[in-house]
Parts: sequence; structure tokens; C-alpha cells
Amino acid sequence: MLKRTLPGLMGLVAAIALSGSSMTASAADSKTVEVMHWWTSGGEAKALTVLKDGLKTRGYTWKDAPIAGGGGEAARTVLKARVASDNPPDAIQMLGFTIPEYAGQGYLANLDSLAAKDGWDKVVPAPIQRFSKYQGHWVAVPVDIHRTNWIWANKKIFDQLHLTPPQTFDQLVADAAVIRKAGYIPLAHGGQPWQEATLFDSAVMSAGGPKFYTQALVNLDPTALGSKTMEKAFDQMRALRGMVDPNFPGRDWNLATSMVINGKAAMQIMGDWAKGEFVNAGKKPDVDYLCFQYPGTQGDFIFNTDQFATFKKGDATLPGEDAFAETVMDKADQAKFNQIKGSIPARLDVPSDGFDACGQKSMADLRSALKNGTMVGSFAHGHAMPDGPKNAVYDVVTHFFNSNQSSADAVKQLVDAVNEAK
Ligand code: BGC
Repeated sequence: MLKRTLPGLMGLVAAIALSGSSMTASAADSKTVEVMHWWTSGGEAKALTVLKDGLKTRGYTWKDAPIAGGGGEAARTVLKARVASDNPPDAIQMLGFTIPEYAGQGYLANLDSLAAKDGWDKVVPAPIQRFSKYQGHWVAVPVDIHRTNWIWANKKIFDQLHLTPPQTFDQLVADAAVIRKAGYIPLAHGGQPWQEATLFDSAVMSAGGPKFYTQALVNLDPTALGSKTMEKAFDQMRALRGMVDPNFPGRDWNLATSMVINGKAAMQIMGDWAKGEFVNAGKKPDVDYLCFQYPGTQGDFIFNTDQFATFKKGDATLPGEDAFAETVMDKADQAKFNQIKGSIPARLDVPSDGFDACGQKSMADLRSALKNGTMVGSFAHGHAMPDGPKNAVYDVVTHFFNSNQSSADAVKQLVDAVNEAK
């Protein structure tokens, strides 16, 4: 009996000692906010310093918990593990449908009183609020609005070859042939599923426009998914595959951006975090590089917004968590942050002066897309459909891109995959 109790007792003692030490640690850490994110490229890390400094001026220290991996898949895996072991970070970067997933399980702190004080309802666009709020309550704060249907081009190469931004997909294909002939790589691409999915955002929009995009990728309508229009989107993916270099598999997105910056490749199709790399390298739009919409998506706005959610610690929100949310939503900091990150502010009340030509264009296009109801969520970045179908579509797209599958077969597979995952 004693033998059996003793280890139990010792366990209890150890547990008390441990909880004591963790209490001391958390007391000592109460001025610290641990933030998990995947902003590890040059441009991303530089933008992050704006938020770190903002938190500091509010009297708190930013404890950095970066998980490298563009698109955030690795970060989402680590978060799951940390939540499962009851050790979530204080705050975490989240995209789209990940927010309601965690909010629905009761993990996220309620930010309603801060939201009311600062009037977030009035300044954050409704398509973003749809993810920031769960059952009508604010549970996440949006820091930026990224757009995925951009092409970033090396201006010197375009000038040398007398090229201008292609207005149709056929023109893009013709330009790519000219670029290849001149000895450059037409398209810098990183062969990772999320980067292929990012191309697919644009291909679907270009093939069918915002209404079709919504029917197929948001409503998951089997008729749209199995249509001839979807086949055209895959045809575009096949043509894009022909524009890349042989070393594309596994390449990180920012290395692909460097290929355009350094004049090895002429273009990259990527969200405007790529612009953050140009900014970080001291490059200027219309001088060193061009920014334009993927042909056939001019004026369309496929958005991807980074939000931060704070995890509940008991019943009360910790003061550091409030300070953190305030930092993310600070008007002046959103201006500074987004000018470095390549995106535009999530708050509509931030003035456009100080933004470069690409940023101003994005701001203007956002306003008209909001008016026309054509601001649509990025499939690649978790704003079109929940994780289950998203991963299934990722698989179909990546398999297609990395094989000789026909567009007709890919469309059939797409319908089946979504059907099973729904
Ligand atoms: C995020 C961006 C980030 C990009 C590459 C996207 O999912 O929304 O903020 O820069 O991934 O890491």
C-alpha cells in the first residue's frame, strides 16, 4: 500500500512544485506576450518589427514564436500540437476558416469591448469581419489585406524585350515564349502545394470571373466544379507549368521572388507579400519592377487577410492580450506595417498617402470590389472553403501540376474529391 502511495505522493509533490514554478514563470511573464506566426522572410520579418515596437510602447514584451513555412501550414500543425498539450501561445496568426474552427471550440478570447471602444464594426470590410467574428463576437483582429491575383515582373527584362503587362492569358503565353527565347525563365515558381494553389486562385478567376469563382470555390457547387470553365482553369495551369524552370520543386516563395529581383526570371504570380521582398531589397515599382493583375482578373480582388487571435487564459482576458489586439488594430501602425509587408491596411480609415503605386492600386480596386460585391476569399489561403475540402482541392491541383494529367480528368477528380471531403 505504502509502496503504491509513495510514488503517487511524490508525483503530487512534483506536480505542486511544477505548478509553483509555472505560476512564478507566468507571474514573471505577465508583461510578455508570446506570438506565433510564420513571417520569417526578409520583408515579413521587417514588417513584424512595427508590431513588436507597437507592443513595446504599450509596456509589453513580444516573445517571438516563429514557425517557418509560407502559407502557414507548419504553424497550423504546431498550433494543433500545442493546443492539444494545453500550452497554446498567447496570440497566433490565423487565416480565414481556421478562426471559426478554434472559436467554435471555445479557445479564443472575446474582444467585443475593445471592438466597441475603437469602432471596428465600421472600419473593417464585411468580408473580413465574417472571419474576425464568431457568432457575432469579435475573436480576431485583422492587420492587413493581401491580394493573391498579382504578377510581379522584372522591368528591365520587360523593357529589353519590349513587353507590356499582358491583358489576356493568350498574350501571357506568347510573352512567355519570347522571354524563354531570350534566355530568361518566364515564371519563377516554388513547387509547394500552397504556391500551386495560389496560381489556381488566379486561373479559376481568369477562366470564369468572380461569380464562377464563388460558385465553384466558395459554394462548392458540383456543376461549376465539373464544368468546361473549370477545365479552362486547368488548361491555364498546364500552360503555367510550361513556363517554370526545372528546379522549381520545393522552392520557397521568397527565393522565387529573388529570381525576379535578380533578373533570372521575368515574372512571379504571388500574393503581395512578394512586394515586401522588393521593398526590403530597396526596389521601386515602375522603376525596378512592375505589378499588375493576372490577365483576365483585372479589377478582381481575391483577398487573404492575416488576423491574430488571442487564446483564453481562464475567464479573464489578460491585459497583455488587450494591448496586443490594440497594437494590431492601431491605425498608424497598420499604415507603417502594410507599407513594408506589401499589403494594404485591414482598416478602411487609413489614408492611402505613403503607399506606393501598387498599394494605391490595390486600395482603389478593393473599394470598387467592395461596392460591386466582388471581393472574394482566396481558396489557397483558407478564405474560400474550410480545411477539409481545401486540402482535398490542394491535392488535386498539385497532382495535376506535377503530372501529365488531362484537364478533363483533373476536373472529374476535383468533383469527386470535394464530394468526399464535404
Ligand atoms: C500569409 C502572408 C505571408 C505568406 C507567405 C500567407 O499565407 O497570409 O502574410 O506573407 O503566407 O509566408
